[in-house]
Amino acid sequence: MSSRPSRTRRILFWLSIFAVLVLVGATGVTAWRYSEAKVSTVGTVAFTEELTVPSLARPRTEPDGTRVFDLEMSSGRREFQLGQVTETWGFNGDYLGPTLRARRGEKVRVEVRNTLGTASTVHWHGMHLPAAMDGGPHQPIAPGALWAPAWTVDQPAATLWYHPHPHGATETHVQRGLAGMFLIDDESADLPLPSAYGVDDLPVIVQDVRFRGARFDHSHGFLSDTGFLGDRTMVNGTLAPYREVGDELVRLRLLNASTARVYNFGLADDRRFTLIGTDGGLLTRPAELDRVQLSPGERAEIVVRMRPGERVTVRGYPTDLGLNFFNNQFSGGDDTFDLLELRARPTLRTASNIPDRLAGTPLPDSAPVRERTFDLQLPGINGRPMDMDRIDETVTRGDTETWVVRNTDGMPHNFHIHDVEFTVLEVDGAPPPPALTGPKDTVLIRPESTVRLALRFDGPADPHTPYMYHCHLLWHEDQGMMGQFVVVDPGVAPDPHRAHNSSHSEFNTR
Ligand code: C2O
Ligand code: CU
Ligand code: CU
Repeated sequence: MSSRPSRTRRILFWLSIFAVLVLVGATGVTAWRYSEAKVSTVGTVAFTEELTVPSLARPRTEPDGTRVFDLEMSSGRREFQLGQVTETWGFNGDYLGPTLRARRGEKVRVEVRNTLGTASTVHWHGMHLPAAMDGGPHQPIAPGALWAPAWTVDQPAATLWYHPHPHGATETHVQRGLAGMFLIDDESADLPLPSAYGVDDLPVIVQDVRFRGARFDHSHGFLSDTGFLGDRTMVNGTLAPYREVGDELVRLRLLNASTARVYNFGLADDRRFTLIGTDGGLLTRPAELDRVQLSPGERAEIVVRMRPGERVTVRGYPTDLGLNFFNNQFSGGDDTFDLLELRARPTLRTASNIPDRLAGTPLPDSAPVRERTFDLQLPGINGRPMDMDRIDETVTRGDTETWVVRNTDGMPHNFHIHDVEFTVLEVDGAPPPPALTGPKDTVLIRPESTVRLALRFDGPADPHTPYMYHCHLLWHEDQGMMGQFVVVDPGVAPDPHRAHNSSHSEFNTR
């Protein structure tokens, strides 16, 4: 009689079976993806390739003393893996670029030619220089064009770097291979620190990669709002690198040139090393550490003590990104990478001890006149995504300010400011750890965390041309986690209307 209720029951029965199957399936896929998300290359890296050391660029000197460097951005091909030729981009070569080096006080000019076939830019990350020379999204270099920014180097010795910064496409331009180091020297060169480039003073440019056959695979992972995470690493463009060293003390200039991955650097036997410098230069005093964490864009200079004949691996250890176990894994926090093997010769040149004072007290020394707050939340900062035609902040030349940067998002971000090096005053109300006590231009900010930064913009003023501040997880930057500020002389208003157009006055098409 009651066929209707029983049919409803049947439908409900099969619906619930279906729901259970979907649930089980989804849980299974998630669990499988979860376990698959964890990467470790420990024990699988053969260290068969000698580490490439980027060549030192040889500038020419003009009669007025200006040092002129040439950079050409072009596409290329490189055999990273035996028998597999990968399409790449590079500066003056197929992948990465030469190391530029200049001394404080020197006038420099870089003649950048773009033969990529698409517009790009070159930004001098960490460099104090006029906004029009900064190489951000307002200084595009058209295909075939030459851009020749010039400035006077005026900042302490540091490990800086250069990379493209085209609006909305920075991640892919860097991933294809456009990056290089820019070293600044000053009177601290007289300190007894390892300083023979390529001998006891090595650039270590770390990038994670994934290959699909010969090609780079830059796709983003499952449930990853972090951006691209690779399953292997390269140092200076070398997969499985080793380096023979002949000195007791070896200085490594670590640069995290990955687009999203945070590394927690250490040595495989957990020995301690000496941290001597961070993004913007030397620490006041060296610090003995066994780990140093670097988010994308950050640098650290460390000195490792070697014993004759030994081999020791530089490793990227799992790291706390301030996430729960589930998200930490999908954001790369649980991964381990064997990055580089150092091989000591049977006899080593002795080195003098690292001095216990390295540099003066970092800036700024005057009281802050203003506090600004920046809330980081994908896809914007303070609730607004990047707009090339909007000046977000106007700062007065010579003023010391406090910038309070809060991560109000459920994922890790970092914060990079152009033109200045800042001091980290506090992390969540507490004094910063040793690795954040030196001059910085980029800092990791964990979810629900707040950093207070002290900074001063010394100019020159340019009310028309903005500098950027942004998350240096490059996909986040491309999504709009970036803002613009101009530096003005006291009493001058910014000129947002001209901000965009002014870029083209720098657009040199010789
Ligand atoms: Cu390293 Cu605005 O960039
Ligand atoms: Cu920068
Ligand atoms: Cu971010």
